[in-house]
Amino acid sequence: MGNRGIDYFLLVYVHQPVLIHMPAILVHTIGKSILFGEHAVVYGQPAIAIPITNLRTRVTLTPDLKAQTPTYHYDAPDIGMQGTLDDLPHDHILVEALRVFRESFSIKSIPSFKLHVSSSIPVAAGLGSSASISVGIVRAIAQHLGLKLPVERINTLAYQLEKLHHGNPSGIDNTVISYEKPLYYIRDQAPQFLEPGEPFHFLLINSAIHSLTSRVVDEVRRAWEATPIPFNALFHDIGALTAQARQAITKGNQVMLGQLMTENHHLLQKMGVSLPSLDDIVTLCNDNGALGAKLCGAGKGGNVIALVKADTIPSLLQTLQSAGWTETYQTSISKK
Ligand code: MEV
Repeated sequence: MGNRGIDYFLLVYVHQPVLIHMPAILVHTIGKSILFGEHAVVYGQPAIAIPITNLRTRVTLTPDLKAQTPTYHYDAPDIGMQGTLDDLPHDHILVEALRVFRESFSIKSIPSFKLHVSSSIPVAAGLGSSASISVGIVRAIAQHLGLKLPVERINTLAYQLEKLHHGNPSGIDNTVISYEKPLYYIRDQAPQFLEPGEPFHFLLINSAIHSLTSRVVDEVRRAWEATPIPFNALFHDIGALTAQARQAITKGNQVMLGQLMTENHHLLQKMGVSLPSLDDIVTLCNDNGALGAKLCGAGKGGNVIALVKADTIPSLLQTLQSAGWTETYQTSISKK
């Protein structure tokens, strides 16, 4: 999404009043869904992620010309987090972002600013709320510093922030959010963009069970350490499904993609990251017109993603609503 400046004027008295034009910086970033390969991607297997463009994080950075000493203010009313740098926890994303910029670009002092963050992406729901904030903050600060960074660099800096907060992320979340394109991703490699042969429509259904990605990734790591052989086999099988899914997407094969999604869900069940509610939503979708469905993201809560034909969406939505699943989102991918 583009960055737009808001016209912002400040009256400064030097010898006489001078009007300085200080544009506030407005950045929008998107949400994401993992279509194939969550968890396995942490262990080097491929995964596929798609953007959710109608879920957005909005970051506004307003230069603070009045501050005598470097001052940074953070305001995220959605999560009730507000304060200047001194009030924020030492591992807060703003503290880390300032450090990452100072170190990466050898900047001694970053000019003061106020940062306002708001988002329509539900938190702890597997839809990329954390990575979208990381990418948004990186883009806003880069612009504030007059740095015209390519998307690769924005992505690398956002990954540094993600690593500080998530221990061992694969980097897929910040990558799909930085590029805003469907992609096939292998850890530590450049993303490969996907060209869908046909449009694919997806419905996301929020279980409303909060689940922290870092915690579930850690649980899987401990389980893998305890019994590596079955876990390596699961990761390998998921990787093989993901490679097939890539073909299905580029060939426009809806039926095959749907079947692969449901198979991926079964492997995630075996991995121990599903929940009865997620399984119920998958079954409900598949029994009512979806071509396939799976949990998406870390699991243990969050969302299910279902592949649907456009004309089955209204009836499926009604069925889901009647069953109490009222929080849904839609997204699609198509040839650009
Ligand atoms: C989270 O969106 C996807 C996981 O595979 C974690 C990661 O890749 O960093 C569960």
